[in-house]
Amino acid sequence: MKLPRKLFVIAGLSVSVLVGIAAVRPGNPPDDKFINLKVLPKNISSKELSEIMVDEFQDDLGVSCNFCHAENKDTHRPDYANDEKPEKQIARYMMRVTIGINKKYFKLHRPMIGDSTLQITCGTCHHGQAHPDNTTTQ
Ligand code: HEC
Ligand code: HEC
Repeated sequence: MKLPRKLFVIAGLSVSVLVGIAAVRPGNPPDDKFINLKVLPKNISSKELSEIMVDEFQDDLGVSCNFCHAENKDTHRPDYANDEKPEKQIARYMMRVTIGINKKYFKLHRPMIGDSTLQITCGTCHHGQAHPDNTTTQ
């Protein structure tokens, strides 16, 4: 028995439409809570984000969270999504630079901060200091 070719084409199309819908669905709802990510993936998990903030940013620069993050004036609690502090903006710029170096000079395919394959990280230049050019303290 020979099924019409058209049927296969239609069946194939609906599979790719379904796959397409699955691909654009947002990340896991429980992790989908960061509201102001411009460089990191918006659906990053809390675990991955906190590893970056603690291991890469805090430790590699030798600073605390409030070096980059402003506090809420009323609650006096950190307001992580707030972009008021220039240090946070510089950090974002540095993230883009770091990604760019890994891509351009080390030919990594779509590198992202936090990847274990990165050849250059914040720590490569910062060595636990916010100001890597401050040679007098080394
Ligand atoms: C060197 C600067 C720097 C330090 C230190 C730092 N962060 Fe961040 N943080 C950033 C930047 C930049 C972003 C935004 C990243 C982006 O746009 O993709 C961010 C984003 C975040 C977010 C997501 C906010 C949102 O909803 O968009 C959280 C939560 C956060 N940081 C927590 C922390 C904690 C907790 C610490 C201390 C352990 C910390 N950060 C230390 C620079 C820093
Ligand atoms: C290629 C080297 C290099 C890399 C990689 C790098 N930085 Fe920097 N960063 C510097 C230099 C140089 C300065 C300027 C220091 C100064 O002016 O005292 C700086 C300054 C900064 C400052 C401003 C400090 C201040 O007090 O004004 C922040 C914040 C910062 N970097 C965050 C980061 C973060 C976060 C990463 C990783 C995503 C990173 N940097 C990766 C070289 C680098």
